[in-house]
Amino acid sequence: MFSAAILTMSDKGARGERQDLSAEVIKELVEQQGWRVRDYRVIPDNFDGIKETLVDMADSGNIDLILTTGGTGLSPRDNTPEATLAVIDREAPGLAEAMRMESMKKTNRAMLSRAVAGTRGRTLIVNLPGSPRGARECLEAIMPALPHGLEILTGRGGECGTG
Ligand code: MTE
Repeated sequence: MFSAAILTMSDKGARGERQDLSAEVIKELVEQQGWRVRDYRVIPDNFDGIKETLVDMADSGNIDLILTTGGTGLSPRDNTPEATLAVIDREAPGLAEAMRMESMKKTNRAMLSRAVAGTRGRTLIVNLPGSPRGARECLEAIMPALPHGLEILTGRGGECGTG
């Protein structure tokens, strides 16, 4: 059983002007794995605020996986990948590659997401796009490999080469 946090980046959402359907989708997929969502926040697209929140969540010691949604595109206010890169120790590019590869089968707009993934300490951070459909398609693309990745990252059982 792993613990997850969901972090939504949305100026409108943070002002309470938008229902957070993407977070609902992410929560559903996380809980389907038998994992628990222990933290959930909606914040504006400010670079510094995103960085601080990611650090706060990752360094709490309670969270194995942070799933962000939104702010990965090309708008000048899309700061999620830069803030994520600023706080991670190591990139895990295969996760972002897999998300874009699978998503490209559904929409060529998938190439517009600049999502990144990586680890900070023993926490994995993964950026998902902001739309509920994009969040679902991307999380479904990586979910089959996440349990093993998290086992290795957290040191909770699991050996490579057996699966
Ligand atoms: N990926 C998938 N699987 N499905 C989608 O509908 N939308 C794309 C892309 N990735 C999409 C997707 C679009 S239209 C954009 S603009 C980018 O994600 C960035 O979205 P964001 O800025 O909301 O994160």
